[in-house]
Amino acid sequence: MSEFPQPKQLLSDKVGFFTESVIREMTRQALLHGAVNLSQGFPDFPAPAEVKRAAQDAIDADINQYAITWGAKKLRQAIARQTLAWQGIEVDPERQITVCCGSTEAMVATLLAVCNTGDEVVIFEPYYENYGPDSILSGAKPVFVKLRPPTEADGEWTFDPAELRASFHSRTKAIIVNTPNNPTGKVFTHGELELIRDLCVEFDVLAITDEIYEHILYDGAKHISLVTLDGMHDRTVTINGLSKTYSVTGWRVGWTIAPPGITDAIRKVHDFLTVGAPAPLQEAGAAALGLPASYYEGLAAGYAARRDRLMPVLSEVGFRCFRPRGAYYVMTDISAFGFANDLEFVRYMVHEIGVAAVPGSSFYRDPKLGAQQVRFAFCKKDATLDQAAKRLAKIRWR
Ligand SMILES: Cc1ncc(COP(=O)(O)O)c(C=O)c1O
Repeated sequence: MSEFPQPKQLLSDKVGFFTESVIREMTRQALLHGAVNLSQGFPDFPAPAEVKRAAQDAIDADINQYAITWGAKKLRQAIARQTLAWQGIEVDPERQITVCCGSTEAMVATLLAVCNTGDEVVIFEPYYENYGPDSILSGAKPVFVKLRPPTEADGEWTFDPAELRASFHSRTKAIIVNTPNNPTGKVFTHGELELIRDLCVEFDVLAITDEIYEHILYDGAKHISLVTLDGMHDRTVTINGLSKTYSVTGWRVGWTIAPPGITDAIRKVHDFLTVGAPAPLQEAGAAALGLPASYYEGLAAGYAARRDRLMPVLSEVGFRCFRPRGAYYVMTDISAFGFANDLEFVRYMVHEIGVAAVPGSSFYRDPKLGAQQVRFAFCKKDATLDQAAKRLAKIRWR
């Protein structure tokens, strides 16, 4: 026994308000049990050769020291060029862009830069699980608005405009809009974005958009950036990154585009959080953003083929699939299988079927809402999806 007293309470209250990431935990479970990993959203196929070469060249050219804290000039210029080409929006790379360690850091740096204790952040649920903890870490309270699963009649995830309106009031600081959406695959329409815009203007609220799946769209769906709507120019932070578009989730390069005053605040937070994103990978990011239009067409077509490979398999064995319009996940309803809940179901899948997926409850504040849902990621090689298909055929109903 030590003569010194044991520490009593060394943890912050904040960390008690959220759990570890379930998505990342599912990847660890998949590795542990040799399951096909359809849980975490990372591709198991190579990044584009030109982009990898650009990273190797940058290291060879000794771009191995800190980049400018808010991002290498070349990358910021490439982001500005593409924002003009894709969204028709002019942004000043010197005053409006901050390169971060992934859009993950971009989101938390933004929330830390704009939120005061007691502020509220509106989040559509089901939601990408980082948004809840990000809000809490920034001192804000997340307020959730439901996205309702598609019905036979509408085929789309929808929200109730009255519920959205009721979530806005004087403490509301920001709304997070993720389109194309993880986990639902929803692509917000112009009409829906107008509703959000009207509320942001009326209640003087900032919109923070997570657009990392902007190039992964199906069935003619069109991505609309909220910042392009009248009235949103000065009250939107647009977040994006290399991870999904160029299949480099491990590189950790993302960015914010924001009005200059907000950018200054984000840059301050970002500098003290991480100093900067990996310098040679920022150079490669500039090369990636220069890929021709055919690259993006191929990316979307490739994902459409993967979606169409996995969905019939899931439907065949008894999942009810909600057809995604964008991003690379399919949310499913598992009620036909007769399991008590999603956690029991994914445990059974990892241990006895050999396929890892994400329990739906991890996308909701109230776990009951996702208790009969499971999300599959299809950003995988055909061989991986085929192996999963063989295993999924063994699922037994209870
Ligand atoms: C909606 C959403 N935002 C952000 C991320 C993380 O992006 P990054 O790798 O740029 O941090 C993910 C990863 O799955 C995601 O689905």
